Amino acid sequence: MTHAAITGWGKCMPSAVLTNADLSTFLDTNDEWIVSRTGMKERRVSHVSAIEMAVVASKQALACAGVDAADVDLIVYGSCSSDELVPNSASGVQTALGATRAASMDVNTACTSFLYSLSTATAMIRTGVVKTALVIGVEIISPFMDWDNRNVAVLFGDGCAAVVVQASDKEEGVLGEQLGCLADARQTLRVRGMGTAYTNRGVTSGDTEWDFDGPEIFKRAVNGMVQASQAVMKKCGVTPDDIDLVVPHQANLRIIEAVVNRSGVPMDKVMLTVERYGNMSAATVPVALAEALEEGRMKPGALVLLPAFGAGLTVCAHLVRWGDRVTPLGVSDAALSKPKKSALEMVQDIRARKSRDASHPGLQGVTFIEQM
Ligand code: UT7
Repeated sequence: MTHAAITGWGKCMPSAVLTNADLSTFLDTNDEWIVSRTGMKERRVSHVSAIEMAVVASKQALACAGVDAADVDLIVYGSCSSDELVPNSASGVQTALGATRAASMDVNTACTSFLYSLSTATAMIRTGVVKTALVIGVEIISPFMDWDNRNVAVLFGDGCAAVVVQASDKEEGVLGEQLGCLADARQTLRVRGMGTAYTNRGVTSGDTEWDFDGPEIFKRAVNGMVQASQAVMKKCGVTPDDIDLVVPHQANLRIIEAVVNRSGVPMDKVMLTVERYGNMSAATVPVALAEALEEGRMKPGALVLLPAFGAGLTVCAHLVRWGDRVTPLGVSDAALSKPKKSALEMVQDIRARKSRDASHPGLQGVTFIEQM
């Protein structure tokens, strides 16, 4: 049987840092509330497009795997915050990399997009459709953020990472996964202001406001991730004691603690980035994976559990067997330019742009009408 080993990894984090203190300059919030409720201290704000972040992360991942861009058969771009919808974003990465042979597709399952993309690439490798895939998890949430809504503005950040997945005869890569969607709760997380439901009513696309039922998402996310983790462990015939490392979606430290406690895995086996980067949606899991490798926390042959949830509410848990190599074969010199403004200045620019747009009727009174 053909397996799909993860052979390269790379991240691209924009350097501008938005602290809790920065947020409290324009929001009724404070460091104590944010840290105690979420575990977050900082997040990043990108000064470049999502595709630019994805290109840097992809170049690092390809160098790490020792793979030439021309040998990539498939690019899967996991994200819910695209620079544009048509053409797709994966094709933009493809052009910049010179991956001329590749097929390119975008996958949007919100925060789980990287893991659903990993499932897609793994399935295509296992069935012989492709041999080498690049899987990206990227998010540029700052331009879409409802910056004056303290319920959401403190939670999210921008970032990106990518992995290279290659056909292998060794039992490596995704051993199994559990995918699902709690669609009856889809109204609990909605970004209003993107798509025809809004533009048909005169709303400028991107002039967004968020519907966000945090406590309900919290409960559903914990139950969903625990059930998915238990299901995938059962499917693969492993117990919590067999897990070497947990790399979870990083939406809230309290959610992560609840999931691993109920799954029977100790917290010292969990890779955390939530304090430094907040919730980067599709980018959280691959960035945490890349940092686990950078920090020497990934051991050769490790069994890794990756539970996640996102808008939809999509849920999933993957079990990955790492290979023998935990160090990069090479490093690319690709890097982002330096930002000209601070994170707070960039956020203030976005807020000013949105308040100028408020001269038209905007989203006032425009709600999404559930069709089903
Ligand atoms: O990846 C998918 C997206 N991520 C999520 O969906 C995250 C899931 N939910 C959560 O992480 C948590 O529910 C939150 C962090 C969003 C909220 O934590 P909570 O413990 O569930 O707090 P809460 O919603 O019950 O709010 C408690 C209070 C409220 O005030 P009142 O009504 O009790 O007076 C909020 O208005 O905290 C208030 N509050 C804030 N206060 C200061 C909400 N946001 C803030 C804030 N600063 N930023």
